Amino acid sequence: MEIFTRLLESAREARKRAYVPYSHFAVGAALVTEDGEIISGCNVENISYGLTVCAERVATFTAMAEGKGKIVGLAVVADTPEPPTPCGACRQVLMEFAPEMWILCGNLRGQQRIFRLQELLPEAFTEFNV
Ligand code: THU
Repeated sequence: MEIFTRLLESAREARKRAYVPYSHFAVGAALVTEDGEIISGCNVENISYGLTVCAERVATFTAMAEGKGKIVGLAVVADTPEPPTPCGACRQVLMEFAPEMWILCGNLRGQQRIFRLQELLPEAFTEFNV
């Protein structure tokens, strides 16, 4: 099975584990490393709403915590009319580790869009542009 399909399936499965008692908006993410490993995440909300962490960051931090290799791509899935794109905070976090990565956005209707992270976060902050 090709990597895009595997990642979308993994993100869709992770989405089922989303903890979303407040927004009821479940998101799943799955990333792939240069070694072909897949790591997934879901959004985890909190009664103190601002402590919520998005699915994309859960997957990213899990990969870092587990010492996985370089991230090459990530899929994000939600039940939206159009394929959902990652929030600004997640874009910046991903930029830290994988500026060259691609991002595959999918919804439950099977629609997909693919971007480069650099298209989604042009002129990103780096220590070199201060
Ligand atoms: N959320 C994500 O998990 N990823 C995004 O890219 C956007 C938003 C979550 C956060 C919150 O739990 C819910 O979706 C509604 O904003």
